Amino acid sequence: MASLAPTVTLNDGNKMPILGLGTWLSLEGEGIAAVKAAIDAGYRHIDTAYLYRNEKEVGQAIREKIAEGVIKREDMFVTTKLWNGYHDPEKIAEAFNRSLANLDIGYIDLYLMHSPMSYKFVSWEPENPDAASVPEFTEVDYVDTWRAMEKLLSGGKVRSIGVSNFNSEQVERIVKECKVKPVTNQVECNPGLNQRKLTEFCKKLDVTITAYSPLGRPYYYEKDPKNVPKPALDDARVAEIAKKYCKTPGQVILRYLVDLGTIPVPKSANLERLRQNINIFDFKLTEAEIKVMDEFNNEKRTVPFTLAESHKYYPFKIEY
Ligand code: A2P
Repeated sequence: MASLAPTVTLNDGNKMPILGLGTWLSLEGEGIAAVKAAIDAGYRHIDTAYLYRNEKEVGQAIREKIAEGVIKREDMFVTTKLWNGYHDPEKIAEAFNRSLANLDIGYIDLYLMHSPMSYKFVSWEPENPDAASVPEFTEVDYVDTWRAMEKLLSGGKVRSIGVSNFNSEQVERIVKECKVKPVTNQVECNPGLNQRKLTEFCKKLDVTITAYSPLGRPYYYEKDPKNVPKPALDDARVAEIAKKYCKTPGQVILRYLVDLGTIPVPKSANLERLRQNINIFDFKLTEAEIKVMDEFNNEKRTVPFTLAESHKYYPFKIEY
């Protein structure tokens, strides 16, 4: 039986399932298959981005599942993101309309500013997310970008807006200076970087935390074990907790992140793991087990955006 994730009510009244499917690197046929399998497994929250170059596939998979009668559009919560190259307020409407057309599912549930950092517009062809070249920066203020995003809400084609990769000061500035509060701040969050401080800070502002790379991108460690911290996935302490609940280490990590109050969006294109990752709502970690999981926190990022370190709005110079 498919397991559904509970929902959280966002600060604008909309409801968001507290676990979703991440789709970075789910491309073409693999992306379509992963999203369809996820919907069959009970996922109702899918996270994509213009940058991921798979909005069309995500949309196609959702439309096919609607056509099969498995879901209705309103059952789904779909997030996509405004890329850094399109922060100029004049570009926001077109950037949004491109995502809307790519997805082709009538409306978008949540539109996020992918980061506070603005890059020079190069083209509407989303860049290769793995490109090693340094982008050309611009100093468009993310507050101006946000104000242009607020205007999208009146068009009825997006239900909620939020931010991603913002630090506490940047979130606070939006809340203080703008009309609409972000419903969420989507940030890297996993046992190695558990974001307890940012989560607490944002909670006071009624802004949720969505956890990307919740499993700590295990393939980064596999490629470069000398420089990348070992993810909790491979640790004996996590294996022991998993054994107690007849769960896998991945499930224990995702449960931990839910217990911390975050909304994880694990990526998987593997049928078995994808099913496991949503099957975490029938157990809960004890306080002692949460303390064990807290030991992994080393504040190290697997996604530090090193290439953008000199950007005026680079978010990771302060503690959180
Ligand atoms: P796969 O797609 O083959 O399942 P993150 O969400 O932290 O970025 O991690 C995504 C990576 O972790 C993907 O490579 C994914 O591979 C793998 N993964 C997803 N779910 C699990 C799991 N439950 N256990 C171990 N690895 C997982």
